[in-house]
Amino acid sequence: MTAFLLDVDTGIDDALALAYLAALPDTEFVSVTATPGNVDAEQVARNTLALLELCGRPGVEVAIGARRPLSVPLLTTPETHGPQGLGHAVLPEPAGKVSERDAVDLWIEHARTRPGELTALLTAPLTNFALALRKEPDLPELLARVVIMGGSFYYQGNTTPTAEWNTHVDPHAAKEVYAAYRGRAAEKLPLVCSLDTTERIEMHPDHLRQLAEAAGAEVAELVLPDQPEGRRSTSDNTVVRHLSDALRFYFEFHRRYDQGYLAHVHDFFAAGVAAGTLEYTARPATVDVETESALLLGTTVADFRGLWGVPPNARIVTNNNPEQAFAELVSAVGSLAARLG
Ligand code: BDR
Ligand code: CA
Repeated sequence: MTAFLLDVDTGIDDALALAYLAALPDTEFVSVTATPGNVDAEQVARNTLALLELCGRPGVEVAIGARRPLSVPLLTTPETHGPQGLGHAVLPEPAGKVSERDAVDLWIEHARTRPGELTALLTAPLTNFALALRKEPDLPELLARVVIMGGSFYYQGNTTPTAEWNTHVDPHAAKEVYAAYRGRAAEKLPLVCSLDTTERIEMHPDHLRQLAEAAGAEVAELVLPDQPEGRRSTSDNTVVRHLSDALRFYFEFHRRYDQGYLAHVHDFFAAGVAAGTLEYTARPATVDVETESALLLGTTVADFRGLWGVPPNARIVTNNNPEQAFAELVSAVGSLAARLG
């Protein structure tokens, strides 16, 4: 059983990550917290509640912490994830309410109550995590494992030519998080899934077709590049229908940026790394984040060679297996969708 503390900015690929983790039989959602990023914090929390309910996990505590980055104004990205953050998908209003507790306090309380037991997965800007580390500097020791989606190392950015979205939204938070891991034991260092490997996790329309088939849907799920943008799924399977509507928007966005009719599902990959179900290799490095230069704001730098003379504070994922990742996604989410109908 893996017990998760999740921090998300749901988000199309965050949604896929949540659906995937919900599909695994041995996953406990201890709490899910919302960081503003793809959309504002309230919308992130609503999307997350709705998604968890859709995926058969009602009743998970979903809380908000920070409402803006530490030092820069909040940027959201409706052009990437749609005005509400879930692309073309319109989920039913969640029955559950957003928790009145503060996300940062919740993390600290759970980590202290269950020392060494919890896996932290962060698929959003690191604002809440940085605040939690300020309040409880022993958090790295209390958590069993930390997986972060963020950064790009000697690989072009997806927000500026050198910066990745999560790190660019709150570069000061990311800098604080990596600083907090200086001098920690190797097994406590965060595993960082950066664009270098998450952009290899290319979801194609055929994966949706396979997913619908695995779900036992009666209608084949055919999302095609020549169909009008925004066409809604008519799948008889609810999970397939909503995921397909969300992902169609992501395909359209990637095509607009000349990347093809496909979607980089970064956060799903990070979720699989955290769950221990996806193949990867990683390498220790000392990571720092640029916060001063206007040109390079949010750029992540990794010293793999010890040139700074500072011990590693992260483990960067250096390789993965997209074929294995999508076979696992189709099988796990397909079974969940079949179960839920
Ligand atoms: C990251 O940015 C967000 O838009 C995605 O959800 C993902 O977490 C990729 O750069
Ligand atoms: Ca995200």
